[in-house]
Amino acid sequence: MDAREMKIKAAAAALEHVEDGMRLGIGTGSTAEEFVRLLAERVAAGIKVQGVPTSERTARLCVELGVPLKSLDELPELDLTIDGADEIDQRLTLIKGGGGALLREKIVAAASQRMIVIADATKVVDTLGRYPLPIEINPFGQVSTRVAIEKLAARLGLTGELTLRARGEDDVFMTDGGHLILDASFGRIPDADALASQLNAIPGVVEHGLFINLATLAIIAGPAGARVMEPKN
Ligand code: A5P
Repeated sequence: MDAREMKIKAAAAALEHVEDGMRLGIGTGSTAEEFVRLLAERVAAGIKVQGVPTSERTARLCVELGVPLKSLDELPELDLTIDGADEIDQRLTLIKGGGGALLREKIVAAASQRMIVIADATKVVDTLGRYPLPIEINPFGQVSTRVAIEKLAARLGLTGELTLRARGEDDVFMTDGGHLILDASFGRIPDADALASQLNAIPGVVEHGLFINLATLAIIAGPAGARVMEPKN
């Protein structure tokens, strides 16, 4: 089974949790896009759902495939969000934001009663941090914000480069909200809770990709099929 087939398998298993009439948060990334494709088939077959997309990219795909959309302001409380992740640990703490949509993804997940993460087995780790942690920052004062993040990392004993995310050779990557992303290559994040709360205390940090206590279930697809992970303490 190749990577795409595993993503489709996880997405198909998540689709079984979708019921008629649901208000759905719809994630971003290649795995979430497989979910959108399968959801569109169900919509064409008659299921009634309303989706809130977590990015402009996901919104475009939903419109193209006929998945009905609302804004989060129209549907401020959601039943279920389905989204991918870059890393998942046993507590179902996630690193997200590889696609740059972490802010809207976190707002949508927090507005949902449940969040199901869909991923292939390569995303499951014992300790988070091998995947660079995306930190979304305001362009104003970006150098001060970077220095504050570096000092915080040093206090927590975290080492590794902070890289301003680029688009192409000469352009910086801008999020849907007009912010920048620093990718933090810490390698290991032994205490995600401490890092998350201290990042939140830096004014120039808009949001970070640590999703803590948001995922209620993960559906992980491997060569042998899909398995379900529940959060372990
Ligand atoms: C988007 O910003 C991310 O949080 C994605 O959910 C994450 O990067 C997973 O993407 P893939 O499904 O493409 O691996």
